[in-house]
Amino acid sequence: MERQNRPNKPKPPQTSWHSVGKWYNAAVGDDGHYYHKQIILPGVLRLMNLKKHKNASILDLACGQGVLARHLPPELPYTGVDAANSLIKEAKKADHNPLHEYLLNDITKPLTLKSTYSHATIILALQNLEFPANAFKNAHTYLEANGMLVLVLNHPCFRIPRQSSWQIDEAKKIQYRRLDRYASELKIPIQAHPSKQESSPSTWSFHHPLSTYSRWLREEGFYIELIEEWCSDKTSTGSAAKMENRSREEFPLFLTIVARKH
Ligand SMILES: C[S@@+](CC[C@H](N)C(=O)[O-])C[C@H]1O[C@@H](n2cnc3c(N)ncnc32)[C@H](O)[C@@H]1O
Repeated sequence: MERQNRPNKPKPPQTSWHSVGKWYNAAVGDDGHYYHKQIILPGVLRLMNLKKHKNASILDLACGQGVLARHLPPELPYTGVDAANSLIKEAKKADHNPLHEYLLNDITKPLTLKSTYSHATIILALQNLEFPANAFKNAHTYLEANGMLVLVLNHPCFRIPRQSSWQIDEAKKIQYRRLDRYASELKIPIQAHPSKQESSPSTWSFHHPLSTYSRWLREEGFYIELIEEWCSDKTSTGSAAKMENRSREEFPLFLTIVARKH
């Protein structure tokens, strides 16, 4: 009997984020989590300056459950790409704008998109990518000439999972940031529910020093137009409030890089 060759069904992308999708979707909700709402989305929208652009369109790489899409002017075309099926499903469920589409893809593999875009974003996801330069390559391929790429990431100089922490100098009465490692490339597991310890699903975080991101952007055809560093706007109360508020203002939570396609 002759065996028929079936066409290979494309495999869904593999990501640890699929299994934490339910938790992440609930944490972000419709409008975003605290820092999305207070710092990140207003900052990204200000930098993109979409009103100034005649025919703006947005490519949101690692879009999660589509929180950025829900904050954009509805008349702009938008494509969100993410590797977690559970999050793409939530994004589609919440978004009925016919100009919006969501694609299940690994953004570090070559993408096949139908259009080009004036703006691309990678929000809070660079550190989840083992090969971020490949995502920059995709952004470059699908951005128009002079298109803008906005990157927001946990500040790689101050927030390195397991390698950075707050400490208190009792003599000086200050809270300071301790860094155990910075220059090395690191792959660090992150538990979604630390209280569940070993039984918690984990995602991976990849640390790279700032100069590595800068080099990758240059190699993939971008120049850096602007860097911003965003601090938390929370305030402490109680006996340690003074030192906590001061250190919060000294050490930014997020690094934002605006890069342009050459
Ligand atoms: C912290 S979430 C951020 C999602 C969204 N940008 C936001 O701000 O809510 C990180 C996202 O990166 C996605 N991700 C991780 N690796 C990916 C990859 N290789 N390709 C596409 N998406 C990926 C995850 O599925 C997850 O949605």
